[in-house]
Amino acid sequence: MSTLRTALTELVGVEHPVVQTGMGWVAGPRLVAGTANAGGLGILASATMTYEELEAAVAKTKTLTDKPFGVNIRADATDAPQRIDLLIRENVRVASFALAPKQELIAKLKDAGVVVIPSIGAAKHAKKVASWGADAVIVQGGEGGGHTGPVATTLLLPSVLDAVDIPVVAAGGFYDGRGLAAALAYGAAGVAMGTRFLLTQESTVPDSVKQEYLARGLQDTTVSRKVDGMPHRVLNTELVTSLEHSGNVRGLVAAARNASKFKAMTGMKWSTLVRDGLAMKKSSDRTWQQIIMAANTPMLLKAGLVEGNTHAGVLASGQVVGLLDDLPTCKDLIDGIVADAIKRIDALGALRA
Ligand SMILES: Cc1cc2nc3c(=O)[nH]c(=O)nc-3n(C[C@H](O)[C@H](O)[C@H](O)COP(=O)(O)O)c2cc1C
Repeated sequence: MSTLRTALTELVGVEHPVVQTGMGWVAGPRLVAGTANAGGLGILASATMTYEELEAAVAKTKTLTDKPFGVNIRADATDAPQRIDLLIRENVRVASFALAPKQELIAKLKDAGVVVIPSIGAAKHAKKVASWGADAVIVQGGEGGGHTGPVATTLLLPSVLDAVDIPVVAAGGFYDGRGLAAALAYGAAGVAMGTRFLLTQESTVPDSVKQEYLARGLQDTTVSRKVDGMPHRVLNTELVTSLEHSGNVRGLVAAARNASKFKAMTGMKWSTLVRDGLAMKKSSDRTWQQIIMAANTPMLLKAGLVEGNTHAGVLASGQVVGLLDDLPTCKDLIDGIVADAIKRIDALGALRA
């Protein structure tokens, strides 16, 4: 099979320009190793893991693959520096960030030879992290699942490509070879996919929950601010509809209850949650209510994505869910996408008169 060589495959040392993103509760060792062994870049999600769980997940992933992989870190977590030391010590190839990491953290990772790829949602943020030394960025358009912005990939991607000279990986709405070929045509160095990888054989999301996703159409997601105060693209479920119609006080009481469960589960002290909250408050203009809601999100996602309780949980999803109707292995998925993208690129070349 012929392959595609891009700035991303060169930078990271993977075979294919396809990234599986760091989805909380979903991107664990099995999925990450499945992606890595199929020649893509798999990224472990650590925002929903304790430090010890992350340590164990990195070790487990290494037993399942000897290919490069990445770890997604919440840059605003109080133990982010400790997690970064772990990545360096364990020779993890890629550090991915949902929020822009501090300049010193980027420099430390780069000095140790770790490739730094933050996710961003606007050209100005891409410029900022590029000026701080980020090696590449993932840009997620509004179609994408989880926290998302208002601008579609078709417009956000070129705006970011025009703003920076580092490799740009396109995310939000990708699932097939046409999408990869289109992203490369824009000038991107590859695609990153969340929802598509959630719906694979290697994903550990309960089968009943995968079936809920597969049953959905293109218009069956909502961007809700009621989950944690920030725009979050999720499947339309009864719970989401009721959150959307609930008053702020009821939402806050439920959120505080969930924040307390998250604390018990992760063994975090209230002082750590408060310290994280204060750090978030300093770095953003969120209200206390939003900060309690932010601690609430992991519990709502866990109920759905790990425990399979779709009535109590929130199911983050991109709009692309409406076009998915199968559960391939990571290898079949990536091989199919790359082979089809190559066919499309050849067909485009043949259009020249
Ligand atoms: C179930 C789910 C959980 C997610 N969790 C995270 C997360 O913890 N951190 C993060 O940076 N992005 C998270 N995302 C966003 C994805 O990493 C990715 O950017 C997005 O899914 C891309 O859009 P797509 O779903 O159209 O492929 C999540 C997405 C989904 C669907």
